[in-house]
Amino acid sequence: MNCTKCKTKAVIGLPRHNAAFCKGCFNGFVHDQVARAIKSEWMFGKEAKILVAVSGGKDSLALWDILLKLGYKADALYVNLGIGAYSEQSHAKVTKFTESVAASHGATLHVHTVEQEAGAGIKELAQLIHRPTCSTCGTIKRYQFNRVAIEQQYDVMATGHNLDDEAARLLGNVLHWQEEYLDKQGPSLPASVAGFAKKVKPLYRLSERELAAYAVLNRIDYIVEECPMAKGSKMIQYKEVLNRLETESPGTKQTFYWGFLDKQSKKQPTATTMAEKDRAVLHPCTSCSQPTTAEVCSYCKMMARAKTVAPH
Ligand code: AMP
Ligand code: FES
Ligand code: ZN
Repeated sequence: MNCTKCKTKAVIGLPRHNAAFCKGCFNGFVHDQVARAIKSEWMFGKEAKILVAVSGGKDSLALWDILLKLGYKADALYVNLGIGAYSEQSHAKVTKFTESVAASHGATLHVHTVEQEAGAGIKELAQLIHRPTCSTCGTIKRYQFNRVAIEQQYDVMATGHNLDDEAARLLGNVLHWQEEYLDKQGPSLPASVAGFAKKVKPLYRLSERELAAYAVLNRIDYIVEECPMAKGSKMIQYKEVLNRLETESPGTKQTFYWGFLDKQSKKQPTATTMAEKDRAVLHPCTSCSQPTTAEVCSYCKMMARAKTVAPH
């Protein structure tokens, strides 16, 4: 198998693009897909201050690497959730990447440690307030991503969601006809009100397999294990189904998700009307000032509840 572009020996075949690439041309392909995503979805300009949420996994570390190599100013945020060995290992991978790669580009890492603020890791916290671990975790991550982006004055916050993540999420939203979620499932979510950072997903054109290959070829050391709390989750089931379809018909995930984006861009209310809608229902949390639809935001409610039920 030879590289479609330069005809030297290929290291990876990409059936959905009917192509194969050597390392150099594959890196060029990956960088090009990210550059196209940033441009076509109006994510950010060359001078933007970007905050990348890094988990220690391949996608988010690859994203940080790609943005720095494309010449963007990108710092990162790691949220240590306090899930035993899993968090320790993922934290170590993030630190290693920061020291060995990001620092030479002048980039810095912010760390938020859940245990320091809440007095417990998310597993114990979720048990204490009788809520599923993954939804507790989601609330904390969303809150901390936004808080750090706003407090440290970043223009935009980027996550490592890839094509597989977005296609699986779309499948879930369609299966349950979650129309409200469908409306907000784009790769670029504007900052509709003061206090909310703009959120983007520059990897939505790249698959999980392509990102794993990018990480390995570029010697990015990442945590291979999934979060132990995610075992058997619906998202993993949807990904398995989509992978089976993709093997039979390469390009299925791309057609499904990009097709959705294309239809959405034709029917979607403009960013201004979405912002007007948000402004009508959102106001500052009376406890922390982040925008919320209730008097006190779900994060502050959760923390208050954890404090009242915690053993003294
Ligand atoms: P996940 O929901 O685990 O698939 O993660 C989706 C994206 O959220 C990742 O690509 C990261 O950008 C971000 N992320 C997940 N976990 C963390 C974490 N503990 N700290 C910072 N960012 C995270
Ligand atoms: Fe949140 Fe696993 S990463 S529960
Ligand atoms: Zn609050």
